[in-house]
Order: sequence, then C-alpha cells, then structure tokens
Amino acid sequence: MKLRYGITVLLCGWIFLILAGYVHGADDENCLMCHKYIKMGRVTKDGERKYYYVDESIFSKTVHNRVRCRDCHNYIDRLPHDPVKVGVTCNTECHSIQNPSTKKKFNHKNIYEVYRKSVHGRDKVAKNERDKDKPYCIFCHTNPVYIPDEKELPKEITERCLVCHKDRRFVNHRYAHTGRRIKKVGRSPKEIVELCSICHEREEMLHEHLKIVEEEGGELGKKFLYASESYKESFHWKVIKFGFKEAANCLDCHAEKDNYYLAVHDIRSSRDPGSTTHRGNRVRTCRRCHENADENFLEIDPHPTARKDDNPLVYWVEHVYGLVGDGVTLALIGLMILETIGRRRDGVAWVLRKGSSWRRKSPRGRDRIYL
Ligand code: HEC
Ligand code: HEC
Ligand code: HEC
Ligand code: HEC
Ligand code: HEC
Ligand code: HEC
Ligand code: HEC
Repeated sequence: MKLRYGITVLLCGWIFLILAGYVHGADDENCLMCHKYIKMGRVTKDGERKYYYVDESIFSKTVHNRVRCRDCHNYIDRLPHDPVKVGVTCNTECHSIQNPSTKKKFNHKNIYEVYRKSVHGRDKVAKNERDKDKPYCIFCHTNPVYIPDEKELPKEITERCLVCHKDRRFVNHRYAHTGRRIKKVGRSPKEIVELCSICHEREEMLHEHLKIVEEEGGELGKKFLYASESYKESFHWKVIKFGFKEAANCLDCHAEKDNYYLAVHDIRSSRDPGSTTHRGNRVRTCRRCHENADENFLEIDPHPTARKDDNPLVYWVEHVYGLVGDGVTLALIGLMILETIGRRRDGVAWVLRKGSSWRRKSPRGRDRIYL
C-alpha cells in the first residue's frame, strides 16, 4: 500500500515538475510520440507535400536542440491541432530558455528589429505582393546542426572541461555551443553570392517586382534589375569564383563590418544616407580593403554592365570594337580568298605532300615558290 502511495506521489511530482518547467529535455511535451513516424505527412489541398516527421537524433544536434517544440510552435494548443495560419515566427520569445547573461527569456528580437527596417523586412505571412518576393528568416536559415557527430568533439579539450564540470552532457553541449561560434561556420564568400543570387538573378521576378514598386510610386536602385549578373562581371567575382576569400562579396559592400552578424540583417538601399553603398559612404566601404581608395577610385563600378540604359559609353565602345573586330576578321578572310584565287589562276596548286606548300611552276612565269 505504502509503496503504491509513494509511486503515485513520485509520479505526480514528476508531472508537476515537467509542467512547471523544471525538468526539461528535448521533447518534454511528447510531441515526438506522434511526430517520430517517418511517413507522417500529407498532401495539402493545393497539392503541396507536407512532411511532419521530426528525426530526434538530428534535432538533438541542432542549435535549437534545447528549445521546446511549443516555444516555436506556440499555436499548437490542442489535439488534433487547429489549421495553421501563420506558423513559426522568429521573433517569438522562448519560454524554456533564459539568456544567461541578461537573465531574460531568450529571443531573436534584436535581429528581427534590424531586419524589419531593412530592404528585405516583411512579416512571416506576406502582407502584399511586394513583400512576397522578400526573404523571411527561414529563407536564409535552416536549423543548423552544431556538430555532425558528437564523437567529433575534441577529446583533449572536453576532457579538460570534465575535470571541473563533471557532467558529460553539460560539457558536450556547452562546448558545441561555443565551438560552433569560434570555428566560424558561416557561409563562404561564394555561398553568400549564391544566396543573394537566388533572387537577384531571377530576371522575371525582378522585372515584375520593379513594376509593383513603380505602381506604388516607389523607386529602386539603378542596378536593381541586374545586381548579381553585373557583379559577376566584376573583378571581385572573377577571383572569388576560384576560391579567393579576400575579395568583396555582396555583404562586404552591403553590410557594415562592425558587429557583422547583426549588420548582415541591416541591408539598406544605396539611396539611404546611412547605407554602406550610399555615395557619401562608398570611399569608406572600399577602404576596408583598398587602403588608398579615393573619390576617383569610385568611378570603377562594382556592378559593371555594358547595357545601353546603364552605361552608354561602355555599350557604344563595346559595339564599335565589336564591329571593328568583325570587320578585320572579314577583311582577312577576304584577302586569303583573293590570294587563293590569284594563285590558282597562276596555276599554282595546293598539295599536301612533304608538308604543305604551294608548288608547281607558273606557266605565266609568275613563280611564287622560293626554293
Ligand atoms: C497524438 C499525436 C500528435 C501529437 C502528440 C502531436 N501531434 Fe502534431 N500533428 C499530428 C498529426 C496527425 C498532424 C497532421 C494533421 C493534419 O494533417 O491535419 C500533426 C501536425 C502537426 C503540425 C503541422 C500542422 C500543419 O497543418 O502544418 C505541427 C507544426 C505539429 N503537428 C506540431 C506538434 C507539436 C509542437 C506537438 C507537441 C506539442 C505535437 N505536434 C504533438 C499529431 C500529433
Ligand atoms: C526554433 C524553433 C523550432 C523548434 C524548437 C521546433 N520547430 Fe518545428 N518548425 C519550425 C519552423 C520554422 C518550421 C517551418 C514551418 C513554419 O515556418 O511554420 C517547422 C516545421 C515543423 C513541422 C512541419 C509543419 C509544416 O507546416 O510543414 C512539424 C511537424 C514540426 N515543425 C514539428 C516540431 C516538433 C515535434 C518539434 C520538437 C521536437 C519542433 N518542431 C521544434 C521551428 C521549430
Ligand atoms: C537574406 C538572408 C538572411 C535573412 C533574411 C536573415 N538572415 Fe540571419 N544571417 C544571414 C547571414 C548571411 C548571416 C551570417 C552568417 C553566415 O554567413 O551564415 C546571418 C547570421 C544570423 C545569426 C547568427 C548566427 C551565428 O552563427 O552566430 C542569427 C542568430 C540570425 N542570422 C538570425 C536571423 C533571424 C532571426 C532572421 C529574421 C529576423 C534572419 N536571420 C534573417 C542571412 C540572413
Ligand atoms: C578549472 C576548472 C574549470 C575548467 C577546466 C572549465 N571550467 Fe567552466 N566553469 C568553472 C567555474 C568555477 C565556473 C563558474 C565560474 C563563474 O561563475 O565565474 C564555470 C562556468 C562555466 C560556464 C557558465 C555556466 C553558467 O551557466 O553560467 C560554462 C558554459 C563553462 N564553464 C563551460 C566550460 C567549458 C566548455 C570548459 C572546457 C573548454 C570549461 N568550462 C572548463 C570551472 C571550470
Ligand atoms: C528571397 C529573395 C531575396 C534574397 C535571397 C535577397 N534579396 Fe535583396 N531584395 C529582394 C527583393 C524582392 C527586393 C526589393 C525590396 C523592395 O521592394 O523594396 C530586394 C532589395 C534589395 C536591395 C535594395 C534595392 C533597392 O533599390 O532598394 C539590396 C541592396 C539587396 N536586396 C541586396 C541583397 C543582398 C546583398 C542579398 C544577399 C545577402 C539579398 N539581397 C538577398 C529579394 C531578395
Ligand atoms: C564592391 C562593392 C559591391 C559589391 C561586392 C556588391 N555591391 Fe551591390 N552595390 C554596390 C554599390 C556601390 C551600389 C550602388 C550603385 C549605384 O547606384 O550606382 C550597389 C547597388 C546594388 C543594388 C541596387 C539597389 C541599390 O541599393 O542601389 C542591389 C540590389 C545590389 N547592389 C545587390 C548586390 C548583390 C546581390 C551583390 C552580390 C552578388 C552585390 N550587390 C555586390 C556595391 C557593391
Ligand atoms: C572585402 C574587401 C574588399 C572591398 C570592401 C572592396 N574590394 Fe575591390 N578588391 C578586393 C580584392 C582582394 C581584390 C583583388 C586583389 C587585388 O587587386 O588586390 C579587389 C580588386 C578590385 C579591383 C580590380 C583590381 C584593382 O585593384 O584595380 C577593382 C577595380 C576594385 N576591387 C574596386 C572596388 C571598389 C570600387 C570597391 C568599393 C565600392 C571595392 N573594390 C571594395 C577586395 C575588396
């Protein structure tokens, strides 16, 4: 009797602790009871395939591994779940994770607020056609894994931590948390160019987008329609393409260098006096790498094109050079044809023997063979 009573108290206590948030693992809310099944998913009315399967062994290695499912999916409050309207937003406050330095509940609001004011700022559910083309947080970010495999944690370091901290889970987690940031696992310059180019290379979308903005009475930059295409004509891309890391990628010019991880979310248009690409700030931007850059240096276009509407001088020079080049080639071929006709008329034949040469004596005495 006593034993059963004890177990009941323990069980109630445990449930209470879970509810109160004291005991806290990857899946206290038991969402995985259902979501662990691989084939879980459905096809929506619009024919879109949705996957509802969550692989715990992968989720537990991601940067969000200690965030509870319902901290993000806070709209899930009953079973069966109600239809989803907005989904997960990235400015939601975590209830399970405290920021140890500020002692407040953790959130990404600082990034979110900067991003909201940037050229790409939008809500999770786009308010209008214009916003639809812009990237929300999850366009650029997945839920990245800290380290592919725990066995890869460097033993010589984690064992040292263990001497004092004793708890293997504490050490592994804290090491993975800081290790990821120390190792610099961000995108390479080439990957950044590829990320921005997903949109800034989609000609059709860009033209349609410009139309929407103009209808609204707004404006966009001179290079908006061909930002990636033109960047790929520049010297910077020509070296980055081959793996050189020091040349400028999109964010080297379009984001501040200080506080980089926040600044990359603060991309502004070149018409904004506070932007790194505003005429008044450009010298400073180029000087990050080109120490001697001055006003003259700015004449070199980081987005060079040979389009008539963008750069008529280069357009015409390129055209005239093209015409001259074609003319010279044609003239050369013409000369060769005339010369051949002349020689044949002189009776000099083309023979492929003992090397190639024009042979035979001219019956008209116009011998062109020099022996
Ligand atoms: C009893 C089983 C069960 C449990 C427990 C459960 N789910 Fe689900 N969940 C489902 C099923 C079934 C669907 C698919 C519903 C549908 O297709 O309409 C689903 C769908 C979802 C979706 C997708 C909704 C959509 O329409 O896009 C999310 C997100 C989700 N669950 C999150 C959670 C979270 C977070 C928890 C834990 C708090 C949880 N689930 C617990 C069964 C469960
Ligand atoms: C850091 C926040 C975060 C955490 C923690 C998280 N999710 Fe998600 N989850 C997302 C986002 C973002 C999506 C993409 C769908 C969206 O934008 O709403 C998603 C998608 C899903 C989907 C598919 C829904 C759909 O509409 O396609 C399911 C199911 C799901 N999560 C279940 C879970 C379960 C179960 C857990 C806990 C083990 C969990 N999630 C933890 C952020 C999170
Ligand atoms: C246009 C793409 C883009 C969008 C949209 C975006 N980010 Fe980022 N974010 C980046 C890049 C680029 C970095 C720098 C790290 C890298 O190169 O991967 C970064 C870095 C971060 C980091 C730091 C990661 C680390 O390892 O220290 C966080 C956190 C973050 N972003 C959160 C957000 C949130 C929250 C939003 C939405 C409010 C958002 N991002 C929107 C591109 C984007
Ligand atoms: C010589 C003993 C010792 C070693 C070795 C050590 N720590 Fe610590 N660690 C401590 C002490 C003591 C504190 C509390 C310090 C304080 O509050 O000033 C601490 C605090 C921490 C905290 C902050 C915990 C919190 O919640 O505030 C983290 C995280 C941490 N250590 C991680 C590590 C990691 C990772 C390693 C190995 C790379 C490591 N420590 C090695 C003694 C050690
Ligand atoms: C999901 C698509 C998408 C991605 C990815 C994207 N952009 Fe954009 N970007 C847009 C759209 C759409 C606009 C137009 C915004 C508007 O209507 O004001 C824009 C606007 C801009 C502008 C300002 C244009 C102007 O004239 O005001 C700059 C600068 C810019 N993006 C740079 C970048 C950089 C750098 C990256 C990579 C880190 C990037 N974008 C990634 C879609 C994207
Ligand atoms: C070397 C510096 C530099 C690099 C690298 C660079 N840009 Fe630019 N970008 C500029 C400057 C300066 C302008 C303003 C040009 C003008 O209006 O004449 C600009 C203009 C733009 C515009 C038009 C909107 C505006 O603000 O005027 C977009 C969009 C853009 N860049 C996106 C990109 C993308 C995407 C990449 C990478 C593929 C990239 N840029 C690489 C310096 C750079
Ligand atoms: C992140 C660093 C970085 C930034 C910022 C940067 N560049 Fe460069 N740039 C390089 C590197 C590296 C090279 C190639 C190596 C070299 O020539 O020294 C290069 C090469 C060039 C070249 C061709 C070679 C030369 O030196 O003449 C031009 C032109 C150029 N950059 C213009 C600009 C302009 C204009 C800006 C500012 C709008 C700018 N760059 C901003 C790093 C940068």
